[in-house]
Amino acid sequence: MTLYSRVRPLAFKLPAETAHGIGKRTLRAAQSTWPTRAALSYAYRYEHPALEVDLFESTFPNPVGVAAGFDKNAEVTHALEALGFGFVEIGTVTPYPQAGNDRPRLFRLREDEGMVNRMGFNGQGMETVRSRLEADGTPGVPLGVNVGKMNSSTEREAIEDYRRVFDRLSPFADYVVVNVSCPNTPDEFDEASPDHLRSIFETLEAENDADVPILVKVGPDEPEESLFDLVDIVEEFGLDGIVATNTSTSREGLESPRRDEWGGLSGKPIENRSTAVIRTLAEYTDGDLPIIGVGGVDSAASAYEKIRAGASLLQLYTGFVYEGPSTARRINRGLVDLLERDGFSSVEEAVGADLE
Ligand SMILES: Cc1cc2nc3c(=O)[nH]c(=O)nc-3n(C[C@H](O)[C@H](O)[C@H](O)COP(=O)(O)O)c2cc1C
Repeated sequence: MTLYSRVRPLAFKLPAETAHGIGKRTLRAAQSTWPTRAALSYAYRYEHPALEVDLFESTFPNPVGVAAGFDKNAEVTHALEALGFGFVEIGTVTPYPQAGNDRPRLFRLREDEGMVNRMGFNGQGMETVRSRLEADGTPGVPLGVNVGKMNSSTEREAIEDYRRVFDRLSPFADYVVVNVSCPNTPDEFDEASPDHLRSIFETLEAENDADVPILVKVGPDEPEESLFDLVDIVEEFGLDGIVATNTSTSREGLESPRRDEWGGLSGKPIENRSTAVIRTLAEYTDGDLPIIGVGGVDSAASAYEKIRAGASLLQLYTGFVYEGPSTARRINRGLVDLLERDGFSSVEEAVGADLE
């Protein structure tokens, strides 16, 4: 029995956002001194040459990252590194601080091993995040920065929002993700429309003198045609990859009493849908476009399935909440076994192995 399996029933008695806050404060305290950080690293980091991924001109020590939303304000990037994650994506960061939606806005769907959230881009804003990155330094693993718009922005203002956050935070980033797929922010206009996407990417390209890799994050509910359209735009602008997927508005097959809360569904219930999107994207691009796979990853088997479907890197949020601090270590150890079992010498070799 792990320590987390004893702590979890207590944590799960608290409202989800309260438990998340306590978890984050604990991680922040743990990363603040060298001995506690080193102790975490010693207990949780797992290294193996087969896990290394070279992508976006960075070396990822392993393919298991923390998804956007967990550390919106870059408060615990060093602790997440110490817990054995191979990279951390902060954000979504908006230009100004934003309160998000009213609480409660985060719900566990225990029977379904999922969560529903309607946080609504709550965050401290780009200047606070920038100051924190300056003060704390970036972690020793690659850092992604997920950028978003203010909830009140019009279509035209939104483009300026992305530009400003990109301008302030891309110097700290190993890659930047444009998030146009959040299902719980106001939809005054179609954020994922081809015209809007073109305007965003045109603007960011003009700003990107340092050639920071730019990716776009897609939702799991998009029909195939929209995914193809998106890939065409990604290729038109020479973007570096796609993060697939964000949370879902579907509620199919759920059992939990909380299933009808509005917001974005994450975790086990979206696993297969997210993997299907990864496979569609990988097949359409002949495996040439890097994909970060996210949605329901909580074990080595679920991580491996996404790698074989075409994901070069993985991320998780909900699985981390359910499985606790040893999640990355457990997944990475298991991945090494699965790679060996199937005769692959590295994660990179297994990417897209299931594609026709
Ligand atoms: C509470 C919560 C907040 C999230 N906030 C963001 C966010 O700010 N930006 C974003 O791109 N994705 C956000 N996500 C989506 C995750 O990054 C991820 O795409 C999704 O949860 C699927 O992964 P999972 O099944 O491992 O949780 C959030 C997810 C959760 C559960």
